[in-house]
Amino acid sequence: MGKRALWQSDSVDISRVEADLDLTQTLFTEEQIQTRLAEMARQIEADYEGRDILLVGVLKGAVMVMADLSRALNRHVEIDWMAVSSYAGTKSSGVVRILKDLDTDLAGRHVLVVEDIIDTGLTLSWLVANLRSRGPASVEIATLLRKPEALEMPVEVKYVGFDIPNAFVVGYGLDFNEKYRNLRSIGTLAEHVYS
Ligand code: IMP
Repeated sequence: MGKRALWQSDSVDISRVEADLDLTQTLFTEEQIQTRLAEMARQIEADYEGRDILLVGVLKGAVMVMADLSRALNRHVEIDWMAVSSYAGTKSSGVVRILKDLDTDLAGRHVLVVEDIIDTGLTLSWLVANLRSRGPASVEIATLLRKPEALEMPVEVKYVGFDIPNAFVVGYGLDFNEKYRNLRSIGTLAEHVYS
């Protein structure tokens, strides 16, 4: 697929962003993402029947996944956000800092962490341990994307949208240096952009 396929919506002014089209390939179209999120939502509805859900999103990447997954759920949910910092550029530092904490007390709550992507899993392992220390009834993870290394992670990921190859991807909330988050689809970034 050509570069233009990543900007399928008429609402994005192609001429305004043309200089930034350093993308090589579309991995998932808007439609594929929405279809998969709907499937995940059905599974979550079944698994959490009769239990309250607190969706916890990790800013900023999970904004799009949270917006669409939460609206695909035909039931009540609460939503809260955390912001953590673990990355500079494309390489994981393993250092996690809380930039914004939750507003919600987790005691007795069923927490479902909503993630955009799990790469090494370092961020998530730390996050889950941190959330579990707050006395919730349960903590599970839903992620749209998972990279190969994450399969070796000790933390179990209950809901996975797509397993993807080990490439740097952008779009649908995922950024490179804060750009490309507003793409409706997900694509790979040309290596010359970040190498
Ligand atoms: P991990 O700790 O290595 O699992 O990294 C998780 C975080 O790194 C994600 O929440 C993203 O913010 C960022 N990240 C990892 N891989 C990518 C990618 O391919 N594109 C954009 N961001 C990524």
